Amino acid sequence: MTKVALICGTDLRQYAGLELTEELSLTSEYGEVSSTVFKSSLFNNDVYFMARHGVNSSIAPHQINYRANIDVLGQLGVEQIIAVNTVGGLHDSMAPGTWVCPEQIIDYTYGREQTFFDGLHKPMKHIDFSFPFAHSLRDSMIDYANQVGMPMSHFGTYAVTQGPRLETAAEVRRLQRDGCDLVGMTMMPEAVLARELDIGYCSLCLVANWGAGMEKQPLDIDAIYALVKAGFTDVVSFLSDYLKQ
Ligand code: HPA
Repeated sequence: MTKVALICGTDLRQYAGLELTEELSLTSEYGEVSSTVFKSSLFNNDVYFMARHGVNSSIAPHQINYRANIDVLGQLGVEQIIAVNTVGGLHDSMAPGTWVCPEQIIDYTYGREQTFFDGLHKPMKHIDFSFPFAHSLRDSMIDYANQVGMPMSHFGTYAVTQGPRLETAAEVRRLQRDGCDLVGMTMMPEAVLARELDIGYCSLCLVANWGAGMEKQPLDIDAIYALVKAGFTDVVSFLSDYLKQ
């Protein structure tokens, strides 16, 4: 059985269909992990869950200990990670509510610990990251979405910004000129750390809002939270079905 982990923004116990049966407190040489790792008996596969921002959603994107999180999943023998991310839509076709399985990343973050191969914990090493997402995992999730008639965009470059503030309108225009289609705050260094441990990684993004300045009125943060809450119930139920196949 392939061991799979879902990394989501918040505590997943609130979402439909998830009975999380086991709670594993794991430690990492890289420091504190965002949350305990939960296990569910719902699936045929071994599936683990981690709340990236902590169970109370209290850890800011730039303060997440991405190395510790990926390290403990590696310790568990996880082979595939499906990251669930909420994003702003930058491309005309990526309106709020759209689901996207992105295919590329541009990293605009700074100051985050972004490698295991730092010469301290592990010897320095360069790795190939031309195609940041695992082809087979991505293809299989997209095929499943097609099979069940779930509309899901499967092009798209994800811009990773530092947060926790949202972007300025000028920053959004620059991201669009750079060719970015989505913007979020957490995909890096999560994706590259998974690659360093040879864990296949892909992402299912839920578009929560248009990028800053794309509409006349300012972004409504409460509306973004409401859309995410409603959308996540569907995302989790889609992933449960996908993983049960
Ligand atoms: N920008 C960055 N991250 C986000 C956004 C956004 O507009 N929406 C949801 N996460």
